[in-house]
Amino acid sequence: MIEVEHVSKSFVAKVDGKRARVTAVEDVSFVASDGHITALLGPNGAGKTTTLRIIGTLVRADRGQARVGGVDVQTDTHGVRAQLGVLSDARGLYLRLTARENIEYYAQLRRVPAQAARQRLAMMAELLDMGALLERRVEGFSTGERLKVALSRALIHDPPHLILDEPTNGLDVVSTRALRRLLQHQRNAGKCIVISSHIMQEVEQLADEIVIVARGRTVAHGSAQSIRDESGTASLEDAFVKLAYGTESVSP
Ligand SMILES: Nc1ncnc2c1ncn2[C@@H]1O[C@H](COP(=O)(O)OP(=O)(O)OP(=O)(O)O)[C@@H](O)[C@H]1O
Ligand SMILES: [Mg+2]
Repeated sequence: MIEVEHVSKSFVAKVDGKRARVTAVEDVSFVASDGHITALLGPNGAGKTTTLRIIGTLVRADRGQARVGGVDVQTDTHGVRAQLGVLSDARGLYLRLTARENIEYYAQLRRVPAQAARQRLAMMAELLDMGALLERRVEGFSTGERLKVALSRALIHDPPHLILDEPTNGLDVVSTRALRRLLQHQRNAGKCIVISSHIMQEVEQLADEIVIVARGRTVAHGSAQSIRDESGTASLEDAFVKLAYGTESVSP
């Protein structure tokens, strides 16, 4: 289970040559249960990536608390990381290593027995149609190819919790379906999965629970159906626009 309670985070950025505070997350709270896919849905700049980075112990929240499997992200970063698979928005692969080397290196860091790592990698390569890429250096890989490698790396130690930032960004339709099957399989195995996205249709198809984040705040939490009902709109897209932008429609 992943629990986030009233977290906030601001950064110092240069604006017009002067240092200014930028609030990335103002007040985000939600609970993501085991055996569920929870999606953070929000417009660009809403605070989704920052929230995932707080959960992943990559940045410290200014206020509030977050726990992964009951372990506090502020007080036990190693305890949190041990139970977490992370797909970051930057993907972060070693360009001079092959796809297989990137993934196996992480398996070693995570102390996965070599035989188990090879089996898991073979399974994911098959599922994500990545077999032909494994022995190639990552330099020059397309967006979707990099994503597949980074995703396999996030899953290689079979972690009970997954946080995936924009996991379908750059995937074609067949790969998106494969990813959906992979995540549903992980979900059915009882894992706690949190993804971020701004693509409504994807979230509607994949997520059991949706957390709408806008301007650094959680503005709705529930199933697609309950969010539609609560906002009194016919589609999730209408509900999203109403809740995230505070208006019934956004002019084209
Ligand atoms: N390290 C940083 N320094 C300065 N500002 C930051 C930093 N990280 C995030 N921000 C700002 O915080 C806000 C939230 O950013 P964040 O990346 O969390 O949004 P997001 O919801 O993931 O957006 P997107 O859909 O575009 O990925 C943005 O306005 C961003 O410019
Ligand atoms: Mg983001």
